[in-house]
Amino acid sequence: MSMKLTDEEKRMLNGDCGEAVRYSMEILVKLGNMYGAERFVEIESAHVAMSYPHFQGSIELVESFADKGGKFKLPTTSNTTHWTSNFNRWPDLPESAEHIERCRRMIAAVKKMGAILTCSCTPYYQGNLPRIGAYCSWTESSAITFANSVCGAKANRITDGLDKAAAITGKMPYFGLYLDENRKGNALVKVEYSPRNLTEYGLIGYLVGKYFGDKTPVIEGLPPNTTVNQLKVLGAAAAGSGAVPLFHAVGLTPEARTREQAFGRNKTDLEIKIGPKDIAAAAVDLSTAKSEHFDAVFLGCPHPDIAEVKYLAELLYGKRIKKGIKFWIFISTDVLLLARNLGFAQIIEESGAEFLERTCAIFFDLKKWGWKNVVTDSPKFANLLPSDPTWLDTILLDTESCIKVATVQ
Ligand code: F3S
Repeated sequence: MSMKLTDEEKRMLNGDCGEAVRYSMEILVKLGNMYGAERFVEIESAHVAMSYPHFQGSIELVESFADKGGKFKLPTTSNTTHWTSNFNRWPDLPESAEHIERCRRMIAAVKKMGAILTCSCTPYYQGNLPRIGAYCSWTESSAITFANSVCGAKANRITDGLDKAAAITGKMPYFGLYLDENRKGNALVKVEYSPRNLTEYGLIGYLVGKYFGDKTPVIEGLPPNTTVNQLKVLGAAAAGSGAVPLFHAVGLTPEARTREQAFGRNKTDLEIKIGPKDIAAAAVDLSTAKSEHFDAVFLGCPHPDIAEVKYLAELLYGKRIKKGIKFWIFISTDVLLLARNLGFAQIIEESGAEFLERTCAIFFDLKKWGWKNVVTDSPKFANLLPSDPTWLDTILLDTESCIKVATVQ
């Protein structure tokens, strides 16, 4: 069965609203027909990818929308990229002219279409905070999980290209997690442990994704005072290890005030328990380095909130980063500006640590730098970095330990 289009949508598909809209509608109708969607919905929130600069094809895909005259129909934030102020920042780590040029082209194309260049994986901290039930077109796996799970908004995991088409038309086919019946839990996670820090929240998420990657997990037993930021880190790790776009945390997330609400009519005998031994084993799983030597420390995955930066300033106060290693904190511009305003950023920079604004490790040409091991406090990073395009081995530690191994008094 083909999608039913309104008169307006037919005009858009016929090219009455310009080539970019026609091209976008053609893509979205194909998507909708593929998934058996009956109709379109109007999206209320858009967050677009800044594709990998390593791949020429990604850049050309985005430019194809811009060259056809594409303009985003609704306020649209942009995901993390390799931002210009970070180009060739370290003389000892030069970047190729081609890589930089591809990054510039990507930024120019998305800007031309009218994006708000937040360039962060935490759009909800930059004002793109969808209301409960709002249809969203978001990219960035951790952000999608946040929108669905923490905001109670509705978003599908989509690829680069579909995000531009949706932001240009303001529409998406009605499929997947847009439908209430597809949002109920179908696997149970019992947490029998009180996480002591953000990294341990991420480790719980890593295990949730590892065991129930193709399910909608319902998590019971998280502390009642679990914060939104802790859920951010948990969801990011689950999205990374298992492509989980939606989880429910009983008593914490909007579609799971109770276990019954989270499951609806679904019954399941799929169940795992997570205790201290599982957390310790997961940390070992995510540390792939064969030696204790490391070239860099990466913090800020996902981009931190201001409380995380304050905590870092307290930990780094009066300390020095050891010679020969890079200590990088990936961050959004708004949080960095606030951190400067409040004096946290200066304390951190005095230690020798560096902020990398609007970016993260995966956008650099790291393979060319000869690095082998990195230390991180992020289970999402630890899961991601040993693969393409970074191919780095990892040592996963909590934030305090990252600072201990990387500093001298
Ligand atoms: Fe953000 Fe990069 Fe991590 S985009 S979630 S800092 S992998």
